[in-house]
Amino acid sequence: INVKPTIVVIFGGTGDLNMRKLAPALYNLYSDHFMPQEFAIIGTSRKKLEDVKFREMLKEGVNSFSRNGQVEDAKWDVFAEHVRYTPVDVSAPETFAGLKELIEQYKTDFGEQTQVLYYLAVAPDLFPLIAECISRYDLAGNEETCRIVIEKPFGRDLESARALNKLLTGIFTEKQIYRIDHYLGKETVQNIMAFRFANSLLEPLWNRTYIDHVQISVTEQLGVGDRGGYYDGAGALRDMIQNHILQLLCLIGMETPVNFDADEIRNKKVDVLKAMRPFNAEAIRFATVRGQYTKGWVEGKEVPGYRHEKDVDPESNTETFAALKFFVDNWRWQGIPFYVRTGKRLFQTSSVISIQFKDVPHHIFPSGVSEHWQQNRLIISIQPEMSIRLQVQAKRPGLDMVLNPVDMVFDYKGTYNTSTPEAYETLLLDVMTGDQTQFMRADQVESAWELLMPVINAWENKKSLSFPNYTADSWGPEDAEALIARDGFHWFTLP
Ligand code: BG6
Repeated sequence: INVKPTIVVIFGGTGDLNMRKLAPALYNLYSDHFMPQEFAIIGTSRKKLEDVKFREMLKEGVNSFSRNGQVEDAKWDVFAEHVRYTPVDVSAPETFAGLKELIEQYKTDFGEQTQVLYYLAVAPDLFPLIAECISRYDLAGNEETCRIVIEKPFGRDLESARALNKLLTGIFTEKQIYRIDHYLGKETVQNIMAFRFANSLLEPLWNRTYIDHVQISVTEQLGVGDRGGYYDGAGALRDMIQNHILQLLCLIGMETPVNFDADEIRNKKVDVLKAMRPFNAEAIRFATVRGQYTKGWVEGKEVPGYRHEKDVDPESNTETFAALKFFVDNWRWQGIPFYVRTGKRLFQTSSVISIQFKDVPHHIFPSGVSEHWQQNRLIISIQPEMSIRLQVQAKRPGLDMVLNPVDMVFDYKGTYNTSTPEAYETLLLDVMTGDQTQFMRADQVESAWELLMPVINAWENKKSLSFPNYTADSWGPEDAEALIARDGFHWFTLP
């Protein structure tokens, strides 16, 4: 892969995201020879720091969080020479001058081809300020020389997302803007497209004639931890459904793209969002469930309820769990429910998609031969298990005709004996090579907000009287079971 000389500027350089994700990803890209010969990483934040101190912080981050464990000191020292730090205070835009000078210096050293990537790993209220400073200091370049990466949350509702898009597209072209959704960089998530569109076997069955329903569960054992300040103003709908889960749904629901072009793929995804049935009052009542956790026991330790977490309002109305039933009103999916759920402090950490096929049209085996009749199911397990399973009925060995469900399994660990790159490695490399396929376009973000706004408004305007309504370490509120049980199904969980 050919990457041009690159300067990566990280706003929020001393923050958590850089330590946990960006620095380890950049170092691993360097170790795996994906960084260009000429590159610089410039960290910025309000703090005054020497380069040496900043490099030490990054090293600690990489040592603690890299998938490859501890760095080799000699290799790190060479990498660290590419790392610089300069303080920038966005409330005092003149501090941008120092950053500009550093960028110009590197550009002179690296030559005309140099590209500058601005990574905004900061609180969302700073996005506009930073973008404006970049523009004011004439640092916004063009599609060849400059890109900007925006972390989530992209807006907190439709209106603010539109305003942010408007501001950004006034400074940059859409081709320069990389709205990140780290789920799209996950190995198993990228494989959904490969699996769907590189095999002839599935596509003929991938529609309402053969598929019964789809489930997407992204469940987490952890609570909000020390992110209460952010999370209490967000909740599960904004934090997970608007972005990660709707993106997974798009990958399952999209039509076949003509080619692997970034815009072609994103067109197909946005078509799914546009086809999704809007929520009216009745759907909000019957097809959505919200939850909030109360204290409980996790691995022998008592954990606090959500309202007692750090930086959370003791009377908070914020949902830490959401389950919704969606419909995609188009030719392929008419009438097929897509159930999604996500939550914190649930029984298991796992992200799993289950696609259940319709039953056989006629049962030829006498009743009683099946120990446990299970309609065919395709299970895409994104994490922590990375696998794709096709559940089929088979005859159990023996003299009698006895049927039971078995799994045909593709599991990453057994098939490829290598560690898979982290989402941020894939996505940072994509930004460097200018590939927008796995990034959200303006219309995708806005369509996702548009779909969820009626639910967000209804939940915000009406305080839930039942909160807290699920115990930490459970599968969420009982109503979530009822939501799917009403249609005769159960939530799928991996054993
Ligand atoms: C983030 C959310 O986007 O995704 C977090 O803000 C959540 O609340 C996280 O925990 C989950 O990501 P992953 O990669 O651990 O599944």
